[in-house]
Amino acid sequence: MASSSSVAVLGLCVCLVLISPAVSLTCTSQTFKSNQKFDQCLDLPTLDSYLHFSYNASNSTLSIAFVASPAKPGGWIAWAINPTGTGMAGSQALVAYKSNNTAVVVKTYNISSYGPINESRLSFETWHLSAEATSNGSLIIYGSMKVAEKAGKLNQVWQVGSEVKDGNPQKHAFQPQNLNAKDTLVLEKATGTPSPSPSPSTSTAHAPEKGGQSSIKSNNLSFFFAFIFFISAVFFS
Ligand SMILES: *[C@@H]1O[C@H](CO)[C@@H](O)[C@H](O)[C@H]1NC(C)=O
Ligand SMILES: *[C@@H]1O[C@H](CO)[C@@H](O)[C@H](O)[C@H]1NC(C)=O
Ligand SMILES: *[C@@H]1O[C@H](CO)[C@@H](O)[C@H](O)[C@H]1NC(C)=O
Ligand SMILES: *[C@@H]1O[C@H](CO)[C@@H](O)[C@H](O)[C@H]1NC(C)=O
Ligand SMILES: *[C@@H]1O[C@H](CO)[C@@H](O)[C@H](O)[C@H]1NC(C)=O
Ligand SMILES: *[C@@H]1O[C@H](CO)[C@@H](O)[C@H](O)[C@H]1NC(C)=O
Repeated sequence: MASSSSVAVLGLCVCLVLISPAVSLTCTSQTFKSNQKFDQCLDLPTLDSYLHFSYNASNSTLSIAFVASPAKPGGWIAWAINPTGTGMAGSQALVAYKSNNTAVVVKTYNISSYGPINESRLSFETWHLSAEATSNGSLIIYGSMKVAEKAGKLNQVWQVGSEVKDGNPQKHAFQPQNLNAKDTLVLEKATGTPSPSPSPSTSTAHAPEKGGQSSIKSNNLSFFFAFIFFISAVFFS
């Protein structure tokens, strides 16, 4: 017999893995000065960014609050829908920054390609756009927009930059966390049934989704099966 203490140790390890607490979301503790409430929120996977949103399928309206910190004070934050692709090119962006280091402004940009961008209208209707600064240096973009009918999900892109020159956001860093700042925004509320193999780049609201979560889940599963197998082997041999 391999000694009961090694069985106990393995059992303990398995139990610790199995009962590892659900990853709690930072976004659920975020509140807004206006007391505005949203149905769902996400801790986005990069750039310490957060998206709060409500989606009304019957009138195809998405309302959001996007929370992030500029790369440096005086920089900018951006959140976008890309109706035509998954990256920056084609993004319909809401960009906020502190104008003259005081009031926070929000502007819209149709980003057709990399390079200098100009304020422009978006390919969809937006309203109630506003922005504010929090005491810790974060900025918040609020807005409502009309999305495609029965959209289901959208390609979202977000970004932070360090500088605004003459009212123009300057280019952001090209670190992995900048380049990976995009994923799929699932609009409908999660039903509570975890999808069998969530793509690591898909955010599901109220589901833990910090990097590595899906692999933790599958690790749990394989530990679980290994444990069952081990127990069976011990009991039935
Ligand atoms: C900044 O403070 C707001 C509350 O004012 C909070 O929701 C947010 O998570 C904070 N951001 C960071 C990066 O700590
Ligand atoms: C969604 O929009 C429809 C049409 O404007 C409205 O009747 C309904 O109350 C809205 N639903 C929610 C949850 O606000
Ligand atoms: C859709 O309904 C919501 C309320 O749920 C409202 O805030 C929004 O303005 C409506 N959208 C349009 C396009 O009327
Ligand atoms: C910023 O301040 C400068 C100088 O006071 C002024 O000319 C400019 O219009 C201001 N810009 C904005 C966007 O308010
Ligand atoms: C932005 O607008 C200015 C002034 O209209 C123009 O000179 C410039 O070429 C535009 N830049 C881009 C990238 O469209
Ligand atoms: C956005 O830019 C692209 C490329 O310049 C252009 O084809 C498209 O019409 C623009 N969309 C809007 C709403 O202006």
